[in-house]
Amino acid sequence: MDWEDRYVLGHGPMDAMHREFVDLVTELSTLRQGELAPCLARLAQHSIEHFAAEEEWMAASRFPASASHIQEHKRLLATLASARRLLEKGLAAPARALAGELPGWFRDHTAKQDAALAAHLKTCGTGGGQPAPG
Ligand SMILES: [Fe+2]
Ligand SMILES: [Fe+2]
Repeated sequence: MDWEDRYVLGHGPMDAMHREFVDLVTELSTLRQGELAPCLARLAQHSIEHFAAEEEWMAASRFPASASHIQEHKRLLATLASARRLLEKGLAAPARALAGELPGWFRDHTAKQDAALAAHLKTCGTGGGQPAPG
């Protein structure tokens, strides 16, 4: 998946995490079966940290729409964990399917949930400083 300008939300640390997410999804979609596990492990670890950071910003800024946002994070973490478990058993299809589904998930989640959070953080004066370089 390619990075697109519309993914830039103007919150530097969040934008940087989103670039990393897009890079990992791109990598996942290009790997052979034997190479999927380490990439999926990195994507899962990235997602845990990425979502934890956003949830900390929500709590610190008393973001009002946090429940549905956190729910989407939880669902994705569960999907990633399930794909990893099945891949360990030799079933690569769910990991392959994820590579196809994650771009759509990211586009939707970023445009709705993360955009709302970034806008809220800006109004609170916690916009994350300068935009990420690149
Ligand atoms: Fe995000
Ligand atoms: Fe999010």
